[in-house]
Amino acid sequence: MGENKNAKLTFGDKEIDLPILEGSIGPDVIDVSQLYAKSNAFTYDPGFTSTASCESKITYIDGDEGVLMYRGYPIDELARESDFLEVCYLLLYGELPNADEKAKFTNGITYHTMVHDQMRGLFKGFRRDAHPMSIMVGVVGALSAYYQDSLDINDPHQRMVASYRLIAKMPTIAAMAYKYSIGQPFEYPQNNLGYAENFLHMAFSVPCEEYKPSATLVRAMDRIFTLHADHEQNASTSTVRLASSSGANPFACIAAGIACLWGPAHGGANEAVLDMLKEIGDKERIPEFVAKAKDKDDPFRLMGFGHRVYKNYDPRAKVMQETCHEVLGELGMSDDPLLELAMELERIALEDEYFVEKKLYPNIDFYSGITLRAMGFPESMFTVLFALARTVGWVAQWNEMIEDPKQKIGRPRQLYTGATERPFVGVSDR
Ligand code: CMC
Repeated sequence: MGENKNAKLTFGDKEIDLPILEGSIGPDVIDVSQLYAKSNAFTYDPGFTSTASCESKITYIDGDEGVLMYRGYPIDELARESDFLEVCYLLLYGELPNADEKAKFTNGITYHTMVHDQMRGLFKGFRRDAHPMSIMVGVVGALSAYYQDSLDINDPHQRMVASYRLIAKMPTIAAMAYKYSIGQPFEYPQNNLGYAENFLHMAFSVPCEEYKPSATLVRAMDRIFTLHADHEQNASTSTVRLASSSGANPFACIAAGIACLWGPAHGGANEAVLDMLKEIGDKERIPEFVAKAKDKDDPFRLMGFGHRVYKNYDPRAKVMQETCHEVLGELGMSDDPLLELAMELERIALEDEYFVEKKLYPNIDFYSGITLRAMGFPESMFTVLFALARTVGWVAQWNEMIEDPKQKIGRPRQLYTGATERPFVGVSDR
C-alpha cells in the first residue's frame, strides 16, 4: 500500500492535508483517520458507500467491470477449474496449495467434521418448525461452549484450529439443522467423501437406503460453495470484523455474521427470488411485476436484481446460470416453469430502461434458488448453504483482521440530531 500523495480539504478557515493510500488495484483511498483530531469534524457515510473500513489482501471486486477475484484469481476460473477446499486454502493462506499442501489441508478439514456428541441434544431443544437459520445462529454461537481450547484469539495456533473447525463442522451443522426440521435422523459425516459430496450425503442420505449423488450434482454443490466463499467487506463480513474487533471469540463472531446474512437484502435474497417467481406465477404477469418494481410508491423490488457493488452483470451470476442449466438438465427439469419464468424476467428487465439506467443486473441469487430447489433443498435451507460456503471468507477476513496491527475496536461516530440538554420533569408534571 503506497502512501505518497495528499488530498486537501478546506473546512472553515483550515486547510487539512489527508494522505492518499494506493492499493495494488482499485480506487485510491483518502485516509480520514486523523480528520477529527485535525478539524473536530466527522465524516458522514450511511451504509459505508464511500468508506474503506480496513486494508485487505483477500478479495477484489470491480463492480463497474463485473470483476471478482480471490487472491488475484478470477472467480469464473476458480469455479470452473479449482475446487472448494483448494479455494478455502487459497483464501486462508494466500496461495493455491501444491499437491502435498492440498492433501494435508483436506485431511485437516476432514478430521474435524464430526461435532461433539452432546450437540445432538442441543438441536433437540429447538422447535421442529424453527427456521434452520435460527438454529444455525444458536448452534454456531454455542460451539464456543464445546470447543473451549480454540477460543484464545491471540494464539495463532488456536485461531487456525478454530478456523478448521468452523469450515469442517459447518456442513455437519447445516445438514443436522435440515434433518431436524424434517424429522429424519442425523447422518454422521463420512470422511471418505469429498467436502461437497459429504454434505449432500449428510443432507439427503437416510439409514435405510444407499445414497449416491451424481458427479454433476456434487460438482454443482462444490461450485456453489466456491461462488459464495468470499465477497470482501459485505454486510456479514463487516459484522464478523466488527464483532471480533472487541476480542470476541471466533464462534460468537461467525454466529453474528450468520445473523446478518439472514436478512433478505443479503443472503436471504435467493429464498426471496423463489417466492417472487412463484408469486408472479406466469410469464403474462411479468410486466405487472416489473411495473411494481419501478413504482417509487411500491416497496416491491425485483429480488435477485441489483447490487451495492456490481453495476454490471455479477460475474458469479454467469457461472450460476451455467450451473443451473447443468443441474436442471441432469435432473430432466430443463423445462421447469420457474426457470423459464426467470429467463423471461431477466430478458425483459435487461431491456427495460429503468433497469438499464440504474445498472440493475441479475446477481448471484437470481439463479441459485432455482438450482438449489432442483437439487432437493427447501427454500428455508438456501441461506444456510450460503452461510456454510461464506464461513471460509468470514474466517479468512477474521484472521487477517486480528493480524493487522492497525485494526482497533470498531466504533463509528454519529451525526446527533436529537434533543439538546433539558431538565428532567417528574412523571406527575408531564
Ligand atoms: N428492483 C427495483 N429497483 C431497484 C432494485 C431492484 N431489485 N435494486 C435497486 N433498485 C433501485 C432503487 O430503488 C434505487 O432507485 P432510486 O435511485 O431511484 O432511489 C436504485 O435502484 C439504487 O438502489 P439502492 O437501494 O440505493 O442500492 P443499494 O446499493 O443500497 O442496494 C441491493 C443494493 C442489493 C440491496 C438492492 O439492489 C436490492 O434490494 N436488490 C434486491 C435484493 C437482492 O437481490 N439482494 C441480493 C444481493 S446479492 C447477494 C449478496 O451479495 O449478498
